[in-house]
Amino acid sequence: MKRSTKSTITVAGVALAAFLTSYTAITAEQGGQAPPPAANTPPKPLVPVAASSVAANPDSYVGEYVTLTGAVEANLTKTSFSVDQDKTKSTGKDVLVLAPTLQKPADANGYVTVIGQLIKFDPAEVATKLKGYTLDLSAEDQAKFKGKPVVLATAVINTAGIDIAKLPIPPMSAEELSLQKIMTKLPPAQAALRKALDGKDMNLSKEQANILKAAFTETEAFWKAKGNTEATNWAADGKKHADAILINLGLGNIDAAKTSVTPLGGTCAACHGKYRERMEDGTFRIKAGL
Ligand code: HEC
Repeated sequence: MKRSTKSTITVAGVALAAFLTSYTAITAEQGGQAPPPAANTPPKPLVPVAASSVAANPDSYVGEYVTLTGAVEANLTKTSFSVDQDKTKSTGKDVLVLAPTLQKPADANGYVTVIGQLIKFDPAEVATKLKGYTLDLSAEDQAKFKGKPVVLATAVINTAGIDIAKLPIPPMSAEELSLQKIMTKLPPAQAALRKALDGKDMNLSKEQANILKAAFTETEAFWKAKGNTEATNWAADGKKHADAILINLGLGNIDAAKTSVTPLGGTCAACHGKYRERMEDGTFRIKAGL
């Protein structure tokens, strides 16, 4: 959607041109970008495979990202287990699974679907592929599985459809909670402002524009303290649009005030697009790793 990028100011001499130019960048950013892939998206299509096929012919799967199904043969450590094909007996053809984020032991003898890259087990290669993971297999198991297929699992789905390798969603940090307090003031003020402008309610419009201005001011201070210039500028732009509304309301020009509503909303979208992350439970965080 193309957004209007102009706030109209009716008095000559009110120099708002400078901040208006900054909206070109924002509109460009909003231009129909596809959502980024999930963090654990494999770089190649997943190959579905049974544990028995891998055990019988590991070479054809080395380097592939697989969805491997099999029965849990043994829970070896907190982050590793072996699977084979048969629920009732050991076939001696186990496939090792290393799941650094495993949250609980896999059900013994239960079927699982394991997702991840398949390599031949070698502690040195595991160390390069799984940064930050400490191999906890016994020396005996390391010797046993050396050169055998291992899946470096990012997901382990049990028969209940639960991914037991899924990290719990971290709670909001103190910093995120403080930003959330500011953020939650914005949508109701935006909605109330639109309604007040449509209803030509001057006082209510001013009141809501002032709430928006105050919240943007706090948002600006928040990002400034974090040393993030781009986010600080978006918040400052939002504040300027709130100011433009107040100026036009002061001049009794509701129509002119209305022209700032959409670009004001554009600053939310711009910042959220880059710095807000939606978690699977629907809550938001400051996007990590920027
Ligand atoms: C400069 C960056 C920035 C701007 C501008 C901004 N936001 Fe946000 N907003 C965030 C971030 C980051 C989060 C997620 C982290 C958090 O809530 O602490 C967030 C979260 C939110 C949330 C979720 C709060 C919750 O329930 O957890 C709402 C609603 C929201 N923003 C509304 C708005 C609206 C409406 C505007 C514009 C009028 C706006 N924001 C402008 C960065 C921004």
